[in-house]
Amino acid sequence: MSYEELMLRAITKAEKFRYTAKPNPVVGAIIIKEDQIISEGYHEIYGENHAEINAINEAEKYIGKKFQDFSELTLISTLEPCSHVGKTGSCADFISNAGFKNVVIGAIDPNPKVAGRGIKILENNNIQVKSGLLHDLVEKQNKFFFHKHKNNKPYITVKIASSFDGKSHYHNERVFITSELSRDDVQKIRADYDAILTGGNTLRNDNPKMNSRVNFTVNQAKKILLTNKTYNDDSSFFKNAEVDVFEIRDLNKIINSYKDTDICSILIEAGPKLANAFLKTELVDELIVYTSPKKLGKKGVDWFYEDNTIENYGFKLESSYKIDTDLKETFKKNG
Ligand SMILES: NC(=O)c1ccc[n+]([C@@H]2O[C@H](COP(=O)([O-])OP(=O)(O)OC[C@H]3O[C@@H](n4cnc5c(N)ncnc54)[C@H](OP(=O)(O)O)[C@@H]3O)[C@@H](O)[C@H]2O)c1
Repeated sequence: MSYEELMLRAITKAEKFRYTAKPNPVVGAIIIKEDQIISEGYHEIYGENHAEINAINEAEKYIGKKFQDFSELTLISTLEPCSHVGKTGSCADFISNAGFKNVVIGAIDPNPKVAGRGIKILENNNIQVKSGLLHDLVEKQNKFFFHKHKNNKPYITVKIASSFDGKSHYHNERVFITSELSRDDVQKIRADYDAILTGGNTLRNDNPKMNSRVNFTVNQAKKILLTNKTYNDDSSFFKNAEVDVFEIRDLNKIINSYKDTDICSILIEAGPKLANAFLKTELVDELIVYTSPKKLGKKGVDWFYEDNTIENYGFKLESSYKIDTDLKETFKKNG
């Protein structure tokens, strides 16, 4: 197998751990001797071993059997080994201490805490490093992680459900606008994000859970509540969740407060006031609109005041397809 084929295998197999590794990126590592695979490792669970450590621990079982020492081996890793002593210690030091002489890397880690420092540690230990192999695929696989570190803010998506006549809800009344299949789709979207944000009115009117109810294991998102009123912290939103509550109204400041955390993506699920307040800023990267064939009529509350508000906010349609009777449209900035 070529380095490229092995890198592709590591990328593909790492994907299995997307929902348990988050908010960390998914990473895979393969150790080879010439063209024989000795071991593989993946970052399986947030807070636990990084991929390279798992691969090295696994390879140790074959010392004296398939190889004599690590200098005979090459380590292939989808992401640059970390240089910071975080929860699990620096992977770059671990690799150097193991005795490798060759390392192949997919993408350089965009996290400023690493950003080339991992490679420096390896090179300073006389390891030959080749980097950039299938970089684009690794970046695409870890879209939120790369976005966060390149733009110094989490990737932000606003998701809304609209009736055919452009309404969000009835005043002070909970109503399901979209089909069950669209709502299942939302559960999967929630599974992708590191945090879910809503406002005080939605909390009071809907008592939403806003967790991801899917049939696979997922690290549930952190919750973020924006309100300067009293709230019931016994409500569904707070159940089994870590919740940040902000009383301030300055959305830039609120989002900025996540720049040095491991939150790389935020899904906003709010009503027209808060959703529009976000859409008016430069903070939002993506807008998802589910439109049902139902009409709410005059008693319904409008999402927008003009027909072309979405375009006026600077969004362009990226994709559109039907889910049951609903239409799902995704818009992106400069898309
Ligand atoms: N169709 C859908 O997709 C959908 C999704 C979610 C909700 N909803 C509906 O939307 C209704 C509520 O809509 P809404 O927009 O009035 O309420 P919202 O989603 O709770 O957002 C507005 C609230 O957010 C808080 N907030 C903090 N900073 C803000 C800022 N800079 N700008 C605006 N608000 C800020 C305020 O809470 P405090 O007043 O508590 O301080 C404000 O009342 C609910 O009844 C729900 O049924 C519909």
